Amino acid sequence: MSETLRIGIIGTGGVGKQNGRHLDADARGEIVALCDIIPERMDGFEKELGRPMRKYLDYHDLCADPEVDAIFVGTPNQVHVPAALAVVRAGKHVMCTKPLSDSLPSAIELVKEAEAAGVVNMMSLSTRFGPDCLYLQQQVRDGFFGDIYYGRARSVRRSGIPDWNLGFIEAGGGAFRDMGVHVLDAAWWLMGMPRPVSATGVAGAKFGPFGKGYFSFRNPPEEYWQKYGSDDFAGGFIRFENGAGLQVESFWASHMPEDLQVELFGEEGGGTLRPVQLYTTEHGAPKDVRIDIPKAWRTGWQSIAKHFIDTVLDGSECMAPLRHGLVVQAMLEAVLESSRTGREVVIDEFCPFPL
Ligand SMILES: NC(=O)c1ccc[n+]([C@@H]2O[C@H](COP(=O)([O-])OP(=O)(O)OC[C@H]3O[C@@H](n4cnc5c(N)ncnc54)[C@H](O)[C@@H]3O)[C@@H](O)[C@H]2O)c1
Repeated sequence: MSETLRIGIIGTGGVGKQNGRHLDADARGEIVALCDIIPERMDGFEKELGRPMRKYLDYHDLCADPEVDAIFVGTPNQVHVPAALAVVRAGKHVMCTKPLSDSLPSAIELVKEAEAAGVVNMMSLSTRFGPDCLYLQQQVRDGFFGDIYYGRARSVRRSGIPDWNLGFIEAGGGAFRDMGVHVLDAAWWLMGMPRPVSATGVAGAKFGPFGKGYFSFRNPPEEYWQKYGSDDFAGGFIRFENGAGLQVESFWASHMPEDLQVELFGEEGGGTLRPVQLYTTEHGAPKDVRIDIPKAWRTGWQSIAKHFIDTVLDGSECMAPLRHGLVVQAMLEAVLESSRTGREVVIDEFCPFPL
C-alpha cells in the first residue's frame, strides 16, 4: 500500500465532515471520494476540501472504487451496519462512528464479518480519544487508581434532542445510543474493559414525543416529532465479572443542568473526566489535584484520524476495534431491554456472541 491512505466518506453530514476534515489534514491521509444520498452535502464538503472528489449516491458504488483503501461511515445509526458491511465485503478498511449499530443482532453480524475479512475495523469515539480521557488512561496504566471497583457515567442535556435527522429519534436512535454511548464507552474503557454480566435500567421519552426538549430550545415542525420512536432518557446499572459496577445515565432533555461526566472510584485513587481531577490520600491527608490539559494537545478528532491511518499503514494495534463497540452496544441494549421487561438482563443469555 502507498504511504498515503486514500479514504472515502459515507454520509457527509456533521460527523462525516468532522472526521473527514481531520483524516484529510493528517499528513498520511487523503479524502478522495464522498457518498451521500443528498448531493448538495457532498458538493459543500468538496468545496471545503478544495479539490475535485469522486462522488457517489450509493455506498455500494463507493465501496467498488478501486482507488479507495478505507472508508469512514457517518450515516444515521440505522445505516451504520449496512454501510459498514458493504465496506468490509469490498475488502476495505472501515471506521464507523458511534454507536456501532441500532441493535445488537446487526452489531454482532458486522463484527463477525469485519473480523473474518481481516481488515482494520475501528470505532470513531470522540470521548475515548479526547485528550482528557487519554490522560486518565495514562494514569490508569501508571497505577494511580489501583483497582477500579466502581464507576459513574452521565450525559445530561437541558434541551438537546437532535432535530436535524429523523434517524436520531426513530427506532434505533435515542439518547442512550447517541450520548449514553460516549460516557459508557469511556468509563468501561478506563475501568479496564471488564466483562459485563448483567444490566438493569429504566428508559422512556418524556419530552421528544411532545415536541419539547429539542436542540437549543428550537421547535421542530410537528411532522418531525410525531415520528418519535426512541428514548430521550435512560439510566442503568451494569455489573461486571470482576465485581465492579457502573452507573450510567443519559438525558437528551431534562430540568437539570447540563453535565457530561465520568467518575472513577479506585482502591488507591479516584478521578473525574471533565475537568480532569485526581483524588487520593497522602500522609493521611486528602490530596486533590486538578489537571489542566494543554490546549496545544491533539484533539480527539485529530487522535482518531491519526490512529486509524497509523493502524492501517503501519499495522499497529487498534485501540478501538468494532468489537469494543459491540460490547458497549450489548450493555446499552441490555439496559434498554431491562426497561422494557422490568427485569435484570443477564448478558450471556441476551447476547448470543462471546464478549
Ligand atoms: N461525537 C461523535 O462521535 C458524533 C457526533 C455527532 C454525530 N455522531 C453520529 O454520527 C451519525 C450521524 O450524525 P450527524 O449529526 O452527522 O447526522 P447528519 O444528518 O448531519 O449526517 C448524516 C448524513 O448521512 C447521510 N445519509 C443518510 N443515509 C445515507 C445513505 N444510505 N448513504 C449515504 N449517506 C446517507 C445523510 O444524508 C446525512 O448527510 C449518528 O450515528 C451519530 O450518532 C457522532
